[in-house]
Amino acid sequence: MTTAAGAKIVVEHLSHAYQAQSGGRVLALDDVSFGVGDKEFVTILGPSGCGKSTLLYIIAGLMRPTSGGIAVNGRGIVGPSADCGIVFQEFRIFPWLTVMDNITFGLPRDMAAAERQDRAHVYMKMLGLAGFEKKWPRELSGGMKQRVAIAQTLIRDPDIILLDEPFGSLDALTRDELQDELLRMWERDRKTVVFVTHSVDEAVYLGTRILVMQARPGRIRAEIAVGLPALGRPELGVRDSAEFIELRGYVNKLVRSPGVALHG
Ligand SMILES: Nc1ncnc2c1ncn2[C@@H]1O[C@H](COP(=O)(O)OP(=O)(O)OP(=O)(O)O)[C@@H](O)[C@H]1O
Ligand SMILES: [Mg+2]
Repeated sequence: MTTAAGAKIVVEHLSHAYQAQSGGRVLALDDVSFGVGDKEFVTILGPSGCGKSTLLYIIAGLMRPTSGGIAVNGRGIVGPSADCGIVFQEFRIFPWLTVMDNITFGLPRDMAAAERQDRAHVYMKMLGLAGFEKKWPRELSGGMKQRVAIAQTLIRDPDIILLDEPFGSLDALTRDELQDELLRMWERDRKTVVFVTHSVDEAVYLGTRILVMQARPGRIRAEIAVGLPALGRPELGVRDSAEFIELRGYVNKLVRSPGVALHG
């Protein structure tokens, strides 16, 4: 495991229990340890309820774990930080703001309007939102709203990008397109990315490393280095390569082995 000093994110013996309404406790994460290196693209793959969102909230500083340690850039987490951007599972954009205002919402208040808009246009172009500046969220499809949510996070240029099943509700074609766009962005800007998914295909296609989780309690069950030579180069057609298909078969077998059920 990449828990060596110098890793961008270090998670050590992290456990988190929720208080259930029925009075009991739900152990969402049980003794989870891993590290994420600088500029790595790690995918976290696991069934519904294995604690993926809980883990991302904790890394983002939005929640405190019940026990265990977590450090980002060598420092303990005290709360949300500008270093770490998150795209939530249920895309959260403001219904009362236009696409442009949603995307520029998190930029510093004192930034000049022209610069705000210039920056927004870069991400709108990248995510296929050009021409939608003045639209309202209610006028957009689910996929478009999700692109706005992604732009809203990327525009703040965080060092670490956490994405929680960001393409889960999209049709297969749009999903492929946005996956490739994300890989291009990663190839260009080399951010540290933690991408949560329950899709084996997506985990293998996107990640340099896959952490496979299991549920009840949420634990890391396996760690797989991907190392596809064309990673980050969608134009090379990795999706059809023998290496991709072989690795996908292997991971599929692993997650479908007894005791682990994937949804979706
Ligand atoms: N606020 C809460 N109160 C009580 N239990 C919770 C709460 N949030 C999550 N849980 C429980 O904790 C476990 C982990 O939830 P979490 O949302 O992190 O899973 P997940 O892997 O993101 O699932 P999914 O793939 O469905 O999004 C689940 O068993 C869930 O029911
Ligand atoms: Mg979740």
